Amino acid sequence: MTYSHLFSPIEVGGITLKNRITMAPLYLGYAGEGGTITPLLLEHYRLMANSGAAMIVVENATIDHPVGSGSNRTIRADTDNNLNGLSELAAVIKKQGAVACLQINHAGRFSGTDKPIAPSSVDTFGKTPQPIASENIENIQEKFAASAQRVKKAGFDMVELHGGTGYLLSQFVSPRTNKREDTYGGSLENRMRFPLEVLSRVKAAVGDFPVGYRFLADEWLPDGLQLNESTKFAKALSDNGIAYISVMGGTYESFFLPEIIQKSKTEAYMAGLAQEVKNKVQVPVITAGRISSGNIAENILGTGKADLLGLARILWADPEWPQKIREGREKDIIHCDPGCKEVCMQLVMKQKPAFCPQWNPEKVRKFKDMFQ
Ligand SMILES: Cc1cc2nc3c(=O)[nH]c(=O)nc-3n(C[C@H](O)[C@H](O)[C@H](O)COP(=O)(O)O)c2cc1C
Repeated sequence: MTYSHLFSPIEVGGITLKNRITMAPLYLGYAGEGGTITPLLLEHYRLMANSGAAMIVVENATIDHPVGSGSNRTIRADTDNNLNGLSELAAVIKKQGAVACLQINHAGRFSGTDKPIAPSSVDTFGKTPQPIASENIENIQEKFAASAQRVKKAGFDMVELHGGTGYLLSQFVSPRTNKREDTYGGSLENRMRFPLEVLSRVKAAVGDFPVGYRFLADEWLPDGLQLNESTKFAKALSDNGIAYISVMGGTYESFFLPEIIQKSKTEAYMAGLAQEVKNKVQVPVITAGRISSGNIAENILGTGKADLLGLARILWADPEWPQKIREGREKDIIHCDPGCKEVCMQLVMKQKPAFCPQWNPEKVRKFKDMFQ
């Protein structure tokens, strides 16, 4: 099979990516306690960047610890104390010839703290978040801007705003989690206001530096955000200077529903969402979700469902995926096994580091030895 699309370059935010393969952000619990950059984290991203993927989007980093962090091992982008570590991380990725991007996030109602904050006090797995006071809105937006500036200073090539997985930015857009009665709640226009203002502040802070967006297209919940509204939000991001949109579906409240577990075992299960978004925007669109075979990857690009692929678990399971595809050695690929019941996700949700059951014992031992 020839891959005329997969290995062709594309421009994203003024930067040329050498092919259409990106690593989608994947939090694995490899940072140190307190969100520091560890030798294990550096080795992991060195392997990811060495894979031949054009761009590595590093897992979510907090803009405000602890209230905005998913866990105590969430990378910190909110303090200059981590600047040297972040610089090392950017350098490791770039040294392998990949474009380095870091995702920044506020977890909102999914924060690991006992006192989460959110647009509204909608119960979250037994916790009731405190609604964000109007006076605090600008403060949080500025924290996104300050963190994005730090990402640029650390030497990354791009920054990604995490508007997926049901975290804070998407909590504002969702009619399910945003019940506010001020100018940030109610109509879609009002619910989009917070993330669009974040984008505007971030862009003002970083200047000529690409800002991408992880995008929640559908919460997969009956009262949640759906495509009829999310595609309008995607257009607003595109009209307001976003460099790319990386589409996903689902949140922690839908990921574990039996029908969603079933759906997410299918290869390229989120490509249809990406296509809907791509129809409405003028910027490159990334799709992720169990993409693992060369012909499906090529077909997604060739049929215009998306411009780029986001590989998370497959690249982690087998960092040689791009090379094996290019060399026609597809049968040698070590696949992420849907039958493992998402061990990686289960481990990180228990605040443990994830090691892939598909790795050989030597690699598992090496990674466990490096874990601090
Ligand atoms: C353990 C785990 C951690 C993840 N961490 C992040 C993250 O930090 N940021 C993000 O936007 N998505 C995250 N995701 C979602 C992935 O980026 C991706 O969309 C999803 O895993 C589907 O792609 P895949 O089948 O290639 O893994 C995570 C997924 C898993 C399983």
